[in-house]
Amino acid sequence: MEARGARLDLAVNVAVAQPPAFVAEAIVREVPRLAAYPDPTAATETLAAELGVPAGCVLLTNGSAEAFTLVARLRPWREPLVVEPQFTEPAEALRHAGTPATAHLLDPATGWAVDGASVPAAADLVVVGNPTNPTSRLHPREQILRLVDTATTPDDRVLLVDEAFLDVSTDPAQTVVPDAACRTAGDRTILVTGSLTKTFGLAGLRAGYVVGPEREIDRLRRLQPHWSVNALALAAVLTVCTPRGRDFRDEQRARLRANASHLAATLRACGLHVPVDPDGPFVLAQHPRAASLREGLRATGIAVRRADTFWGLDDTWLRFAARDSGPVDELAAGIRQIEEEIR
Ligand SMILES: Cc1ncc(COP(=O)(O)O)c(C=O)c1O
Repeated sequence: MEARGARLDLAVNVAVAQPPAFVAEAIVREVPRLAAYPDPTAATETLAAELGVPAGCVLLTNGSAEAFTLVARLRPWREPLVVEPQFTEPAEALRHAGTPATAHLLDPATGWAVDGASVPAAADLVVVGNPTNPTSRLHPREQILRLVDTATTPDDRVLLVDEAFLDVSTDPAQTVVPDAACRTAGDRTILVTGSLTKTFGLAGLRAGYVVGPEREIDRLRRLQPHWSVNALALAAVLTVCTPRGRDFRDEQRARLRANASHLAATLRACGLHVPVDPDGPFVLAQHPRAASLREGLRATGIAVRRADTFWGLDDTWLRFAARDSGPVDELAAGIRQIEEEIR
């Protein structure tokens, strides 16, 4: 954990340092009812209504991390494929399930654009993040849907889209949640994962979900341990699906969009290469001596995320969370100082 003990954390992509008071209060109000086992019915129905899909198309999960594990165990996958570079958990879950994925590497020269035609037709599971962590690239929904084109993909192809950051991205309308819920006969299956973790500062609570066709959601539910989503997480789901929750999310989106633009401009002004304008609440940037830069920043108490742990990226890449201008100005001062030292 790169941010541990840091004075300034630009490594972890959670939007806020703590959950908003209205969410914390809703969680605390639930405490007296903790003697009862959790019942996800109301939270599932409420979230489904919020997403505009039938309740049977939604499964609440113990964070989207649990959803990745359930999908990895959904079938004995023949040729699972992960579009890379991307968040490492889905590939890890597949490896643990005994069906390691092939890495389908996108080209940085294209801005890591997804090209459905270049994904091997044999893949029966395709995993993609939208927007993708760590590239901060948002793929247009037309490109995502090409990955399940009925003319060019196998009948049993399943597409898993991780939309953990979509609600605070440049264009939340690129979601494929409606497509996931409304599959008709002959259509390929789409599953979409989402999370309360990032936007609402709830990494420790574990509140996520997966949306898909009812039949697949039923299968995933059968694989899920009972009471996987605790009553406090259910209370949080209910409270973010309210006008207050929506307002908070919209505020965070506005704030993070401004922050991400400012961060990208600041990094460019400091001489780093930022190949794509960020669509997500983080920026991926390149520097020939990124490893020394990261270590130098760490010595001054500023944590940034190494990116060489992601497929297809080496130690010239770093990822920065879209913090407010104060911390970003401090980061810029730190970069300039270390540049002098490592030049
Ligand atoms: C792209 C992406 N998806 C999902 C997750 C995990 O989210 P959750 O806390 O819901 O398991 C992360 C966490 O870092 C992430 O970066």
